[in-house]
Amino acid sequence: MELKNKVAVVTGSAQGIGKTIALHLARKGASLVLCDINLEMTKETAREIEEGGGRCLSLKSDVSNFQDAEKVIKETVEHFGSVDILVNNAGITKDNILLRMKEEQWDQVMAVNLKGTFNFTKASIKVMLRQKSGKIINIASITGLMGNAGQANYSASKAGVIGFTKAVAREYADRGITVNAIAPGFIATTMTDAIPEKEREELIKQIPMKRLGIPEDVANAVCFLSSEEASYITGQVIGVNGGLYM
Ligand code: NAI
Repeated sequence: MELKNKVAVVTGSAQGIGKTIALHLARKGASLVLCDINLEMTKETAREIEEGGGRCLSLKSDVSNFQDAEKVIKETVEHFGSVDILVNNAGITKDNILLRMKEEQWDQVMAVNLKGTFNFTKASIKVMLRQKSGKIINIASITGLMGNAGQANYSASKAGVIGFTKAVAREYADRGITVNAIAPGFIATTMTDAIPEKEREELIKQIPMKRLGIPEDVANAVCFLSSEEASYITGQVIGVNGGLYM
């Protein structure tokens, strides 16, 4: 129970990678604050955590709204007393080739993926400075490193998350706060279910490990970066991609 007495906020924890991250952190002993636009499904994550003996709080929150972020962090401190781990996981795709990409597809992806990461980090940082400790883990993407045709908006948002991670890591490195990013490759979730079967087969051929990742692969990296063992690691981008990008 290496994260006993730690409090973790995970955005986008109703399903997919965020849900698995929350369950893993809870299994390591952390108390969880689950936030998502989908409160009903978040409650299912909460039920699984509580069945395993964990403590958690579910809050409906839109990461693109700064007031929502402030409210979640305020309620976290009122309920559990601290914010030790923040996982900025909520993310969306609105894919299209640039020629056909609508302004709103660009704006929505930026608002959730990039501004959402800013909102929750900004809302948490004062609390972490007071505590003189904190671990911020931003879920970026392999596309933020190598680009992906049809995902100019998403790739730009995730490259932005990586730049943001490094800037904030430098600002608070001497204040006990680490800030790192994880760049998953292709992970089997509803997000990648949207890839047509033929394209998926072609994609798998290009992955040196010849399989998609699973949410647990990402959750294990989050648990490591959240732990004391990772205390000298900041401003890094950890690839979890089966060797697809080196
Ligand atoms: P998902 O679509 O299965 O889950 C995303 C969750 O975020 C959902 O619960 C959704 O309700 C929530 N969400 C969406 N908009 C929100 C908002 N405005 N406010 C709060 N919550 C919101 O996606 P998945 O695959 O679990 O992705 C999680 C993260 O991992 C995302 O940041 C994604 O970009 C990233 N990622 C995923 C990869 C994959 O292959 N699945 C690869 C690389 C990165």
